[in-house]
Amino acid sequence: MKGSTITSTGPETISFLPHQLICIDNGGYISRIIDQTDPDYSSTRNAAKRQNQLISLNEDDFLLPGFIDLHVHAPQWPNAGLALDKPLNEWLNDYTFPLETKYKEVAFAKKVYNHLIRELVDNGTTSALYFGTIHNEANLELAKACIRHQQRGFIGQVTMDNPDQTPSYYRDASAKQAISHAETFIQQVVDLNRTADLKQTPVITPRFVPSCTPESLAGLGALAKKYDLPIQSHCSESDWENDYALTHYHKRDAEVLDQFGLLTDRAIMAHGTLLNQSDLDLFKERGVAIAHCPISNAYFGNAVLPVAKILAQQNKIGLGTDISGGYSPSLYRNIDQAIVSSRMLHDGVDQALPPAKRGTSINAITAKNGFYLATVGGAQSLHLKTGQIKVGYLADLQVVKAPYPTFTDQTPDDIFEKIIYHTTKNDIKQVFVQGKLAKEGHYETQR
Ligand code: GUN
Ligand code: FE
Repeated sequence: MKGSTITSTGPETISFLPHQLICIDNGGYISRIIDQTDPDYSSTRNAAKRQNQLISLNEDDFLLPGFIDLHVHAPQWPNAGLALDKPLNEWLNDYTFPLETKYKEVAFAKKVYNHLIRELVDNGTTSALYFGTIHNEANLELAKACIRHQQRGFIGQVTMDNPDQTPSYYRDASAKQAISHAETFIQQVVDLNRTADLKQTPVITPRFVPSCTPESLAGLGALAKKYDLPIQSHCSESDWENDYALTHYHKRDAEVLDQFGLLTDRAIMAHGTLLNQSDLDLFKERGVAIAHCPISNAYFGNAVLPVAKILAQQNKIGLGTDISGGYSPSLYRNIDQAIVSSRMLHDGVDQALPPAKRGTSINAITAKNGFYLATVGGAQSLHLKTGQIKVGYLADLQVVKAPYPTFTDQTPDDIFEKIIYHTTKNDIKQVFVQGKLAKEGHYETQR
């Protein structure tokens, strides 16, 4: 592939390189990147051309790493954009749980999941971490949809067995049955992977502390250890959730998860808007990542996550859409909201923080910080060699056309910033996952 590349090199930095030749091996990894000044450039380009294997980008197209969505509720896609004015508890009981129950019908699951995965890939998302439902067969349809649309999925069979906090029509019958279903799903994904080119990963998924019994939390902790799997849940998203942990366990939400072995360096906790410093220290000690969901948090988060502070103290953190707590399937829109929320936080909402100014890591976050979260941050959280255009990394890539023409001279930073703020799925011409085309688009391949 030949063209200009934009990749994150740290929370504050990007590299923007014109005329790069990206060589991808048969396993879908970037095997070599050749600069135009390299003596091998022409011969390698010509050899690829002769073999009809050269994809040559137009001048106003740019190659970016694919995005990594760390928090999606796949079954909630039909509700995206609905009832966002409700408090979290009401939203769950009146809108979310009734919808998630429908996934006992596999045909419904198949229809929704195929539509959602197509949409996410079209928006440039090449890996995603999903909550499914409590239904084994529907969750398997989600894994199949990821394979069909060439997306790297991390998929969780949701556990919710607490009769006090879940409706009778949508609940695991017992902790024992919940653990058994979670284990069945792990085996089902292992079986599915035997014939799949793109491997899918099962994820241990207690919905959140209130929806689980201590028995199921303990069982899930043991299962994560037995199979060495990623773990996902929600942590300290709302006052109500925090109060539940204090009332029922006399501990903080994070401490409850830790007690059951659910805070590991493969754990990804969504939201965390109300994590305090001791929770953040615990996350750092355990290597736990935060899935920052800025659009959703504006509705349900009860606070603004201090992302600049979290980046500065080097906690692991990436970005999530949290469909349908968040209405948008695009991580571009979530980067934008992360910046806006951070600016508002630093510009007066929290008087203790420094005002929003560019250039230092403890101030409001920038487009570069957001790009880092959506790529490098997500990859680190999932222990994936992706998120950067770099030799030895997976060729998970998006070809983005500059959304608007340039009317004046633009620096590479200007071009980058406009891409972050304006790119929609219509500007994403092609998407590759592990070197394979996942979004075709209408793109002329120049020979
Ligand atoms: N907490 C427990 N379940 C959910 C959910 O589906 N969405 C959000 N945003 N928070 C939750
Ligand atoms: Fe969520």
